[in-house]
Amino acid sequence: MGKKKESAGLVRPEPIEGEDERDMTLRPRHMAEFVGQQGMKDNLSVFIYAAKERNESLDHLFLIGPPGLGKTTLAQVVANELETGFVQTSAPALDKPKDLVGLLTNLKKGDVFFIDEIHRLKPVIEELLYIAMEDYELDWIVGQGPMARTLRIPIQPFTLVGATTKAGIVSSPLISRFGITCRFSFYSQEDMEAIVRRSAGLLNIRIDADAASLLARSSRGTPRVVNRLLRRMRDFAQFSSVSSINLPVVRDGLKRLEIDALGLEKQDRDILRIIVERYKGGPVGAETLAISIGESVETLEDYYEPYLIQAGLLQRSPRGRMVTSLAYGHLGLTPESASGEGSLFST
Ligand SMILES: Nc1ncnc2c1ncn2[C@@H]1O[C@H](COP(=O)(O)OP(=O)(O)OP(=O)(O)O)[C@@H](O)[C@H]1O
Ligand SMILES: [Mg+2]
Repeated sequence: MGKKKESAGLVRPEPIEGEDERDMTLRPRHMAEFVGQQGMKDNLSVFIYAAKERNESLDHLFLIGPPGLGKTTLAQVVANELETGFVQTSAPALDKPKDLVGLLTNLKKGDVFFIDEIHRLKPVIEELLYIAMEDYELDWIVGQGPMARTLRIPIQPFTLVGATTKAGIVSSPLISRFGITCRFSFYSQEDMEAIVRRSAGLLNIRIDADAASLLARSSRGTPRVVNRLLRRMRDFAQFSSVSSINLPVVRDGLKRLEIDALGLEKQDRDILRIIVERYKGGPVGAETLAISIGESVETLEDYYEPYLIQAGLLQRSPRGRMVTSLAYGHLGLTPESASGEGSLFST
């Protein structure tokens, strides 16, 4: 929500301004439309079914995963499946206790209350939330100085859905109050192809099977990215007066966008190349590396690294980041040719 990066690349997993709003037609509304993440979905469906049977609110739900994999989408799907209301906010929008109190006191029984970027909650808000999550009550201080007293305000039972890309910095008291945790993983090739087919159908775009397959493979296992690239390929097809997106269109389109067969953009390849050429393949510390590529450590860690690691091109070690032999292969280099001074793996 509201995240915007300076030089948003096409395979960056975070939304480009207004993109998610435009993509509303593509957003799955029910569990059956939500492609992939099967194990997680199966369990969640059981918990939803059981909560409905008991006429209780669903346990609080914690969603963890890199950007663009479907956390917000799943939160909405859960509300739809529960047939409850959906109230959405994000931690940076909760500035004062009254911001949270206002939202919580308006919830109806069983509603899904979604807090995005939950790792960014302020401590005072977090404290309030603990009691709300546990007892469905709010501590509200009235009066000032010696006259101040605390009122306990009851609220309706609700389900908090908290989403984060950075589970590592969420406090343990908060984590312990979630009854269910869902960890998203990057989507498989098969699931990505299913998403391309689904989105193409919804947008009335014709795409050949081999073209869909290449597009799926080049989209970093991330639905948001594949939807974005699908639209660009539609533009290229239209520009070349081709009625359906075929393999040559996708091949040519990806080449024009400088996206390679693994879904890497120039900046990703630059990261790998810099580690190879300046730091002998690593290890190099995150801060040093971030400076070398002209990005913040946060951008490096949030955007670039998860997929480079998942693709087996980069490794994190206590001493820093290292490229793998796969990365040399992908860049068309060998450790010897890159350094000119023997093996780089023996630093
Ligand atoms: N499982 C899925 N099946 C089909 N489409 C999906 C799926 N998950 C996500 N999408 C599509 O990808 C887009 C991005 O998903 P979403 O906004 O839910 O990601 P997110 O994890 O909340 O990202 P962020 O961390 O940036 O908030 C959605 O608009 C939706 O169209
Ligand atoms: Mg989201």
